[in-house]
Amino acid sequence: MTVTIEIAVPASHESANYPIWIGADLLPSLEQRLPLERYSNVTILTDTNVAPRWLASLQHGKLASAKACVIPAGEEHKNLNALQTVWEHLHNTGCDRRSLLLNLGGGVIGDLGGFAASTYMRGIDFVQLPTTLLSQVDASVGGKVGCNFNEVKNLLGAFNQPQAVCIDTNTLKTLPPRELRSGWAEVIKHGLIRDTSYLRLLAENSKEESQSSAWLARVIERSCRLKAEVVTLDEREGGLRKILNFGHTVGHAIESLSHQGDAPYLHGEAVALGMVAEAEISRLQGYISEDDVVELEQLLTDYQLPVRLKASLPWESLQSKMLTDKKNVGGSLRWTLLQKVGQAVFDVEVEESLVKSAVTRLSQASHGEEIPR
Ligand SMILES: NC(=O)c1ccc[n+]([C@@H]2O[C@H](COP(=O)([O-])OP(=O)(O)OC[C@H]3O[C@@H](n4cnc5c(N)ncnc54)[C@H](O)[C@@H]3O)[C@@H](O)[C@H]2O)c1
Ligand SMILES: [Zn+2]
Repeated sequence: MTVTIEIAVPASHESANYPIWIGADLLPSLEQRLPLERYSNVTILTDTNVAPRWLASLQHGKLASAKACVIPAGEEHKNLNALQTVWEHLHNTGCDRRSLLLNLGGGVIGDLGGFAASTYMRGIDFVQLPTTLLSQVDASVGGKVGCNFNEVKNLLGAFNQPQAVCIDTNTLKTLPPRELRSGWAEVIKHGLIRDTSYLRLLAENSKEESQSSAWLARVIERSCRLKAEVVTLDEREGGLRKILNFGHTVGHAIESLSHQGDAPYLHGEAVALGMVAEAEISRLQGYISEDDVVELEQLLTDYQLPVRLKASLPWESLQSKMLTDKKNVGGSLRWTLLQKVGQAVFDVEVEESLVKSAVTRLSQASHGEEIPR
């Protein structure tokens, strides 16, 4: 069964609506869903992990002649070098304004490919084909595209909506377990910021044996609906969309800093830590209780996500990294916090001393278990 969610983004140009298709085994039939006759040629952007597993299921029938551009896998390649490779590939293979780019991979491929498509010849069409849980529940929906620059996450980028998002849930079968766990962080974030009943459902289904395909499909659909609703109300992040940044001010700083060492956190892992820190800020602001923060830590632990840092991070490094965050205005940090569990507030200014004290929670002894690696 294929579920279709129509996402309407009023502020975007020309085609305001686009579909998100969710189902098993959708990649092989994608050629029938897309209006390929509109395009002069099609390029598939993917990475070195995804290509051997999923490229063939796409590259047949009307897509048999689609050229593949394969870039090295990983967050460390979400940079200008990789973008240059994509732009060169598009140019060298004669892509024109009526070319289509299919982004087959995780959030890195979706963000980079979306950005390459948005800038090549002032913009060509692209379709997101997310293959990680994280990109299926979050990154592929909403039209934020971009790349890291000067060790700052997503410093370069644009808002540009795809023509469609096609989520083939089969692709999760080849995803390494650690990558799957990383995706749950964004799912839990969705419940925390806007939907307590979703959060309850997640708490009830945290056991490994319940991570069935049917359960995953249900979660992907619910998260996509929630994200689509927020993005429809505020495409350009003037207000409401900022709630999706919960956990990401501290999370992005931890993620970037960890990439300077030899044991980097995955995006979702850093977001899990960021959510603990930002829940603690919410508690110190008087919004939520200690029990709420402990419950969140328990939920993240149940999904085998980290709630404590592996090694301590100097406050100065964390702070200076956070000050490069895009969400800042006039040099001061603006926070998305939990007013209560299931309801986020944004643009909150917080005393620096309170933030400093909140992040110490990430180094304290925890009630949680060891995180499996
Ligand atoms: N645009 C947005 O709104 C948004 C939202 C959230 C996150 N993001 C971005 O997304 C990125 C993280 O995304 P991610 O976690 O998908 O990372 P990723 O793209 O690096 O994928 C994770 C790893 O899994 C591999 N992989 C992907 N699909 C696979 C599959 N089906 N089978 C086997 N291996 C597979 C990849 O090669 C990679 O090694 C970050 O850069 C983050 O900033 C963007
Ligand atoms: Zn994220």
